Amino acid sequence: MAAAIGAGIDVEKPEGSMIVDIGGGTAEVAVVALSDIVTSRSVKGAGDSYDEAIINYVRKKYNLLIGERTAEDIKIQIGSAFEYEGEGAINVKGRNLIDGLPKDVEVTAAEIREALKESVYQIIDAIKTTLENTPPELAADIYCKGIIMTGGGAQISGFDELIRKSTGVDVMLAENPQYCVVQGSIQILNDMDNDKKRKYAITR
Ligand SMILES: Nc1ncnc2c1ncn2[C@@H]1O[C@H](COP(=O)(O)OP(=O)(O)OP(=O)(O)O)[C@@H](O)[C@H]1O
Ligand SMILES: [Mg+2]
Repeated sequence: MAAAIGAGIDVEKPEGSMIVDIGGGTAEVAVVALSDIVTSRSVKGAGDSYDEAIINYVRKKYNLLIGERTAEDIKIQIGSAFEYEGEGAINVKGRNLIDGLPKDVEVTAAEIREALKESVYQIIDAIKTTLENTPPELAADIYCKGIIMTGGGAQISGFDELIRKSTGVDVMLAENPQYCVVQGSIQILNDMDNDKKRKYAITR
């Protein structure tokens, strides 16, 4: 709910909106209308599990051990959910698992996309299921207005495009996606009367 408000959605309207918040630990897919969460699904494993997937991929394929920071850098620099123009490769430094010595390899954007595929498709599945569980009128609103993405993980290149292609629904990335939850929470605290605060605290 806070992410939705922070993304600028008027949650009090009798219209359905879908928000996909991809954080570090969890991803949440929710349909909100009339200040309520109509239906939602949460996926364990979001941005941080993408880092883990990259670590595992590089270890298996290249016998190269990298840390979480390196994995996150790779994700932010060339990670993607969908092919993009001019995608390249990145030089990755780590430790050779065979001899324990420093080693570096070139890893391509396509390889990283492969590494992220399973985690990314968990979100696609959650979005599809949530759309199926959405009452038809509200689903129609969502088809009209599109899906809003928030959270740091929403910035992975082509994530919006993949959702668009897999669901047929338009997707928009919120401004400053990483700060929507914080901005929304501040707005709840500042603007709303106590009844509403209580309601949002309960329904999130
Ligand atoms: N440009 C970027 N591209 C891809 N991922 C990014 C980018 N910037 C940040 N992230 C990832 O976003 C995640 C953090 O997002 P966010 O700040 O929304 O999470 P959070 O709200 O702290 O976590 P949670 O919602 O699970 O409690 C991290 O996994 C981080 O690596
Ligand atoms: Mg969050």
